[in-house]
Amino acid sequence: MDWRSFWDGDHPIYVNARHRALHDQRIANDIIAHITAGGLTVLDYACGEATEAGRVAQHCGTLILSDGAPSVRDKLGQRYAATPNIIVQSPEDTALLPDGTVDLVIVNSLLQYLSPAQTADLAQMLHAKLKPGGRLVIGDVIAPDVGPLTDAVALLRFGAAGGFFLAAFGGLIRTALGDYRKVRGALGLTTWTETDSLALLRGAGFDARRLPVNFGHNQARMAFEARKAA
Ligand SMILES: C[S@@+](CC[C@H](N)C(=O)[O-])C[C@H]1O[C@@H](n2cnc3c(N)ncnc32)[C@H](O)[C@@H]1O
Repeated sequence: MDWRSFWDGDHPIYVNARHRALHDQRIANDIIAHITAGGLTVLDYACGEATEAGRVAQHCGTLILSDGAPSVRDKLGQRYAATPNIIVQSPEDTALLPDGTVDLVIVNSLLQYLSPAQTADLAQMLHAKLKPGGRLVIGDVIAPDVGPLTDAVALLRFGAAGGFFLAAFGGLIRTALGDYRKVRGALGLTTWTETDSLALLRGAGFDARRLPVNFGHNQARMAFEARKAA
């Protein structure tokens, strides 16, 4: 089992439908906040099921949804078949996009599932796809000193604020006993210090900075903005 096949399966990462809905709403709002002009070509890389992408697409010229899991892409394809400015594609398709054609790339909550070498390759590939002056925004990067307990407390707080505290608690227990923990134990999650994250992005040719606010509910994780030279 690798992380890509974990995400292709039936995983209990959201504790219930309300958790998924509130998560997706919040991520969509956070993405929209980074869309600073009309008509942009926006790539959401490792987008997940993106149930609020229709709303994001209203702020874009074109919204490209790219995800590594075929089952996720099937759902996206069905959900957005009637949304003309949404394109669903695989990471392999994304790598074939013409260079210099994307204004903004969002990568949220992916880096922990990639090796450092895969992340370095991804940063270079995305740098090539961006237009001059285009931006890459990476969210939910886990620092080495942020452990599962911090994530659990953040989820419980999100649950308390969103009216799904008990489900969050039950979900944590299921996660502790289930596949995610086994796969996490076997494959691990990749962590990045702020310094190494900035070095990686600068090494790929970007002007990079840490953002003051992360995407989503877990502010113990980090977000970065990387700009391609104009
Ligand atoms: C934690 S989810 C994040 C989804 C979404 N970005 C969000 O913030 O809600 C991780 C996503 O990354 C995708 N993924 C995992 N490994 C990948 C890879 N190597 N390339 C592209 N996508 C990948 C999974 O299929 C999954 O949908």
